[in-house]
Amino acid sequence: MEDSFGHHISYLRISVTDRCNERCAYCMPNEFQEWLPRDGIMTYEEILRVVRIAADLGVTKIRVTGGEPLTRRDVIPFIKRLSKIEGIQDLGISTNGTLLSNRLEGYDTAAQALSKAGVRTINVSLDTLDESTYVAITGRPYLNRVIEGIDHSLDAGFERVKINSVLMRGRSEDEILELVDFSHKRNLLLRFIEMMPVSSNDVLKDSNFLPCGEVIKSLSDTFGRLQSRSDYKTNGPASYYMIPGRDQLIGFIGAMTNFHFCESCNKLRLTCDGKLRPCLGSHLEFDLLSEIRCGASDERIANFIRGVVAKKPKEHDFLSNYQPGRKMIAIGG
Ligand code: 5AD
Ligand code: SF4
Repeated sequence: MEDSFGHHISYLRISVTDRCNERCAYCMPNEFQEWLPRDGIMTYEEILRVVRIAADLGVTKIRVTGGEPLTRRDVIPFIKRLSKIEGIQDLGISTNGTLLSNRLEGYDTAAQALSKAGVRTINVSLDTLDESTYVAITGRPYLNRVIEGIDHSLDAGFERVKINSVLMRGRSEDEILELVDFSHKRNLLLRFIEMMPVSSNDVLKDSNFLPCGEVIKSLSDTFGRLQSRSDYKTNGPASYYMIPGRDQLIGFIGAMTNFHFCESCNKLRLTCDGKLRPCLGSHLEFDLLSEIRCGASDERIANFIRGVVAKKPKEHDFLSNYQPGRKMIAIGG
């Protein structure tokens, strides 16, 4: 599928739940709201049907997100079924990492279960290596669990384990080198993400914003000039740089400062309540679940998806057109 600006759409990001066992300020609104009612959440059958139809339309990559996807019951068997859908070549998951070292019946750990279910790449969120900063950011004392979960993921046979680290002024600045070294030692692919204004929380104010450019500069001061590796691509919009003298790539997701950020966008998002979103940074969303529950045929659903692709904007519009009332946690990052 191609949109009106030449973006090839091959990637569907699916939020399976808005629930989470953490409370990251940049993801959740200030006043805690109720979770979405369960009957408004897509069933696994409904999601699988959408993916089958999307795969026929050219989607080849899926990423499962939340909230925290591992908080949804029976997510492992669901993922196993997803991975078997014809046309799906690449299956990833984004997780906060807190539940990866849990024992699951029939498996050593949840990490191993995911890998055996067909997940090829796992993205774990980790903004800090300091326990008290971790609590301040996520509202939970789970740093050690996450590190354990990362280590279990490294043993679980994934093709790649990535770390996503949201940049926050006053918090991340002192820890950049530690995160880089932590990732180097474990052979993790570290990506720094600029904070996006996606909810109504105070933490998202400008004074907390730390641009990727500053981090690139500070790493260049330490290691010598980072080398841009425009030939290296994962599925998303990260730009990669090599640290000279080390065989370590670092990714930068500069949604707010990189003017070319949206040029290679290949993504659609499906929220847990069944809204199809052509862009994270625009309030456009289309209610696919209502169509499905009104008995739409596969063909009608396919046309619906094509219609959403046709409305994909040229680029995101975080700064002037974002609807802060819509929680990031329900969209899935
Ligand atoms: N800005 C940037 N990244 C965010 N995430 C959640 N909220 C924001 C935000 N406001 C990230 C999480 C996770 C991914 C799914 O989205 O840290 O890595
Ligand atoms: Fe949960 Fe991830 Fe949102 Fe934090 S960023 S509240 S871990 S979904």
